[in-house]
Amino acid sequence: MSAESPTQTHPDESVFVEVCSLDDLAVGTPALAEVAGVRVALVRLGPDEVRAVADLCTHANVSLSEGEVDGCTLECWLHGSRFDLRTGEPSGPPATVPVAVHPVRVVDRTVFVSPVPEERPAS
Ligand code: FES
Repeated sequence: MSAESPTQTHPDESVFVEVCSLDDLAVGTPALAEVAGVRVALVRLGPDEVRAVADLCTHANVSLSEGEVDGCTLECWLHGSRFDLRTGEPSGPPATVPVAVHPVRVVDRTVFVSPVPEERPAS
């Protein structure tokens, strides 16, 4: 998992960075990856589903990739806020600010992640 991986451009013109093989990720075990200098927590949720969120908890800047996966959430190991891996929203305090969600593509069992987070819907 290196920032020096080749990049691939998709039809939506976002740049995705090759991060790892799907087989490098165990289902339900978070992993830290660096994507063009951006640290993300990668979580494989199922056979072909991988999610990526910003690695730092929005409450106190600890690494979410050291947390635990529960369903479709990633729990911060320090104070227990759970972040939805699809939306980035925390389920409850102490964190109140969502984490950024990064687009992921899985192509031929290779995982590509965009260093540019998804835009959040206007609230
Ligand atoms: S540091 Fe993550 S919930 Fe407090």
